[in-house]
Amino acid sequence: MSSNTVVSATDRRSYWDMIYNKNELTSVGWYQALPELSLQLIHKSQLPATAKIIDVGGGDSLLADHLLDQGYTDITVLDVSSRAIEKAKIRLGGKSDLVKWICSDVTDFEPHVSYDLWHDRACFHFLIQQTDINAYRSSLNKALKKNGIFILGTFSKTGPQKCSGLPIHQYDEKGLRQIFENTFEPMGSTTTVHLTPSKARQNYVFCSFKNKIEQQTYKY
Ligand SMILES: C[S@@+](CC[C@H](N)C(=O)[O-])C[C@H]1O[C@@H](n2cnc3c(N)ncnc32)[C@H](O)[C@@H]1O
Repeated sequence: MSSNTVVSATDRRSYWDMIYNKNELTSVGWYQALPELSLQLIHKSQLPATAKIIDVGGGDSLLADHLLDQGYTDITVLDVSSRAIEKAKIRLGGKSDLVKWICSDVTDFEPHVSYDLWHDRACFHFLIQQTDINAYRSSLNKALKKNGIFILGTFSKTGPQKCSGLPIHQYDEKGLRQIFENTFEPMGSTTTVHLTPSKARQNYVFCSFKNKIEQQTYKY
């Protein structure tokens, strides 16, 4: 595929499997040895260690490893790529059994449990079509408890326009608030610069929200 390829929802799985087959964990642009801001925002929510936390589009990221090390006991990682999940499980070894793994496109996700916290760094911004954005919000509303916390990090308006050869949508705090304000109360936002393994600077915006509604009560 060319570097400008737009992948349809049905091709996402094979596209991301190909990316994870081709690249080492420590060479991908989004790699973080320590996902410091995500961990800070999760701590700020003051949830107990038993809280149900889901990392959406978590892929092979080290967030789950750090959450386990910090004593969190109910972590789920969801990703469209089975290869990403396989790599994460191999890396974690015996500890992988302590994490729940879901291979699903977030836009098709049918949660069977209620989560206290939904974290997404660099997954939502790949959803360009309004139908996919609506489907993401539906999955989020079905999955998150009332008063549950939603932490979302995307490329900002001054960030890259593509990631892994795919176009992304850039956001600022106002844009993210507008998308989620019907059902989510904004709790704060911050911007950060991520330094990629090749030393490129990528600007992100992170917003935290609290779910105002009971699960599944909002239809888009
Ligand atoms: C740029 S990576 C970010 C990985 C991780 N969140 C991090 O910050 O290190 C994007 C991840 O989102 C996953 N992804 C992309 N589109 C997705 C979708 N529609 N549903 C679920 N996962 C998706 C990819 O497989 C990949 O693991």
